[in-house]
Amino acid sequence: MKVTVVGAGAVGATCAENIARKELSEELILLDIKEGLSEGKAMDINQCATLNGFNTKVRGATNDYAATAGSSVVVITSGIPRKPGMTREELIGTNAGIVKSVTENILKYSPDTIIVVVSNPMDTMTYLTVKSSGLPKERVIGMGGLLDSSRFKYRLSKALGCSPMDLQGVVIGGHGDTTMIPLIKHATFSSTPVANLLTQAQQDEIVRETMVGGATLTQLIGTSAWYAPGAAAAYLVESIVRDQKKLMPCCVYLNGEYGQSDICIGVPTIIGRNGWEKIVDYQLSEDEKVKFEASASAVRKMNDSLYELKLI
Ligand code: LAC
Repeated sequence: MKVTVVGAGAVGATCAENIARKELSEELILLDIKEGLSEGKAMDINQCATLNGFNTKVRGATNDYAATAGSSVVVITSGIPRKPGMTREELIGTNAGIVKSVTENILKYSPDTIIVVVSNPMDTMTYLTVKSSGLPKERVIGMGGLLDSSRFKYRLSKALGCSPMDLQGVVIGGHGDTTMIPLIKHATFSSTPVANLLTQAQQDEIVRETMVGGATLTQLIGTSAWYAPGAAAAYLVESIVRDQKKLMPCCVYLNGEYGQSDICIGVPTIIGRNGWEKIVDYQLSEDEKVKFEASASAVRKMNDSLYELKLI
């Protein structure tokens, strides 16, 4: 099986490194437009093979889409990251053109691939990819809710003083500071609802910190985060390549599910060899439904700019 990661920036390279460590593909292509960047990062990752014990061969390619031919999965991380104070939404004008042209080039050489979209604003970039690629909707998956859920469990683990691994917690809705919905009433610590273990004030604080998780890191680092985004994208690729059928919140095209149509937004999905294979109905409460609708309206508004820019 062949996997390609487009964009050898921090997120793309971290994703590639995780894919190599997990040996998810025999050959892994890392593609970038900047001469030498992907070749250099691929060489650096390959030089970890004896240290971290993997056989995946990473190959860098500068703008050479022929090198990606026959990829079963392609992860798109291309585009500019946000700077401190910027929202993900502000990236749309620049990143939409990039993501559209990357998708066109990828499909020339891998017409049946599964595309994992990481570029921001992720919900709108996923919608653009569904609309412009002509791929079956199940083969386009946006990665955001998985990352946000991991950040949610990190925050919960700090408040509860427990291992994040003993926690179940899901973030749905858009991948934006104001659009994501950490489902705290559904979160559990080894089968016990966390709501029974935390005060309302603690719960509110965890939800708030989760929602601005990316912005907090951007403020600290000076650019967008990459360790967890790269690891989350690789985790998603693993569920596809190994057909694990793991349940994870992903951004997918809805056709009536969760009361929404013609939109890509985060919902709990089963991820396997065919892409997203099922949407799981979490039976949202009235309050959660209102939040989901508001989130969808905000995402829809961003999608409108794709039509204004005549990209779809
Ligand atoms: C973040 C970016 C990758 O949330 O969206 O860190």
